[in-house]
Parts: sequence; C-alpha cells; structure tokens
Amino acid sequence: MAALAVHIFGSINLDIITSLDHLPRPGETVMAGATARLPGGKGANQAVAAARMGAETYMAGAVGEGDSGRWMLSRLRADGIDVSGVVTLPGADTGTAYIAVDAQGENQIIVVPGANAQWREAAAVSGGVLLAQLEVPVATLLPVFAGSRAIRILNGAPAVLEGRALFEHVDILIVNQHEVTAFLGLDAVPGNDDMAAIAESARGLLCREDQAVVVTLGAAGALAVHADRHLHVPALPVIPVDTIGAGDCFCGALAALLDEGRGLEEALPYAAAAAALCTLGQGAAPAMPMRAAVEDLVGRPAPEKPATEHALPIKKPSAASLS
Ligand code: RIB
Repeated sequence: MAALAVHIFGSINLDIITSLDHLPRPGETVMAGATARLPGGKGANQAVAAARMGAETYMAGAVGEGDSGRWMLSRLRADGIDVSGVVTLPGADTGTAYIAVDAQGENQIIVVPGANAQWREAAAVSGGVLLAQLEVPVATLLPVFAGSRAIRILNGAPAVLEGRALFEHVDILIVNQHEVTAFLGLDAVPGNDDMAAIAESARGLLCREDQAVVVTLGAAGALAVHADRHLHVPALPVIPVDTIGAGDCFCGALAALLDEGRGLEEALPYAAAAAALCTLGQGAAPAMPMRAAVEDLVGRPAPEKPATEHALPIKKPSAASLS
C-alpha cells in the first residue's frame, strides 16, 4: 500500500452517555435508564476510525491534567495511535461531552470543551492526510492548514462560522446538511430526494475548482460535490443502536482510504459502510469498526494499491458513475 499517515488535529472528550426513553423537552426532567463513560471527542473518534481502518495515525490536540486526560490518552494508545502531538495543559480540564440517547437512537450532545478550547500551538505536516474538525480553535488550525503539504480534509463540525477562514486551504470539506445551511446562511437545504439541488447548494462552499465538498446525509448516504459534477453514494441499511460518532467514523475511514492513494469515489462506499457499522455499537470511539468488518459489509476488499506518491484524490470519473 502507498499509505503514509493520517494526521488528526482535534478534540478529545470524555463522553458521559445517558440512555433515556425520550429526549427532554425544555423544562422537562427525564429519568435515565443507565449512564456510561466512554472515550469520545470528534478528533479522537476520527483517529480511532482511521487507525481501525489500518492507517498509521497521529493525533494532535490537548487534554487536561488528571485522570480523564490520562485515561483518554491510554485509550488512544491502545488503538495504536501516536499521541505525541497531544499536550497536557496545566490547570485545564479534559473536554467532556454530556450525551443523551433516546430509545430510537436519536441524541443530544452538550460539550464542555475544557482543554480543547485552550489548545494554541500545532505544527504543519509534510505528507499524508490532514484531518481536522471545529471543536478546537480555528486560530490553532489555520497555520496547520495553510502550511501543510498533505491532502487536507476539514470536517466542518460543529458549524462554527469562523471555520470558514479555513475553507480556502482545504482540499475536501465534509459537512452534513445542517452545516451546509449554517455556513451558507440559508434557511433550509433541499430534501434528500433532490441530490442535484443539494449539490447546487453545497457548491456555494467551494473556494477553488479543484476542491470537493462531501455532504453526509445520514440514512441517505453521502454526496460528493465537485465544481462540475456530483456523485451520490447510498448508505447501507442498518438498525442503529445510536448514531453518536457516525459522522466522525465516516471522516476517519475516508482519511485512511485516501491515505492509501485511493480516489474519492473509490473510498466513499467504504467510508459509508464504516459509518453504518458505527451505529451498531454504543457510543463513539468504542463503536468504530475494524477494516475487515467494513470490507465484509461492502462485499469486497478494497483492492491493493501500487506504492506511489499521493496525488490529490479528486479526478474526473467516467460518465457512467455520475448521477
Ligand atoms: O461526534 C460525536 C462527538 O461529539 C462525541 O464523541 C462528543 O464528544 C462530541 O465531541
């Protein structure tokens, strides 16, 4: 394989997950059935997803002093992730996410960012794939994106509007429909029955012709949007336990596959399958699937790639694969 490495810049959280019959309405008190403390944070989740797809994975971010930070680092190391780029900030708390999941698997998440928000310095990378999200300061990410020679992927989650400063330095932007709406200041995006209309909206996020936007559509799959074309990849049908971290799984798996030198169109069905499998387990990081399970669900292994240098994974597909 031509793999170099996946470099994740992002958040590390302790997830406190409560299972409820229904999510609380404003002013309502709801009794929880159970609580679990699990590893999470969009950055950490994406790192675990990439590592379990087989990528050499490096994590950069920040934790606080104390047991939560040490435990999170030990969990990342257990997945073979190099955490030498994670700093421990004196006096800070490790980020914590309070997550409620209802009987249908729907969730609400409240994040107390702690050390993630206080992370100030990170170094650019000189190869492989760079992947970041917006639970850490944009000012910390900006020099990394501007100075890195890598395939640069930004997951625009959560939809922090200052994150738009990064868009010109990105090769692939991954967003869900809510994030498309927020970044463009729209009232609503078109429904999942109109891929051409979703693509037309998402094109408003492109800064350059050689960029791509990938819109994740939940149960409707994902849409890769280029300046002149789009490609819809359907989701694989599953009955979810919870959808926490499914978007992170998609991003981490996609980064791992692009790091192997695969094109975006070849990689997307595997990333979609990984995200589907992630919904079958409880929580975020622990639910990330191993590569063999992903290849099983797709129905074929990703073919071996010749050892070559990375090229930007955005190439024109054959007319037959366009929708
Ligand atoms: O995307 C899911 C993640 O969002 C959770 O793990 C939580 O920590 C928040 O960052």
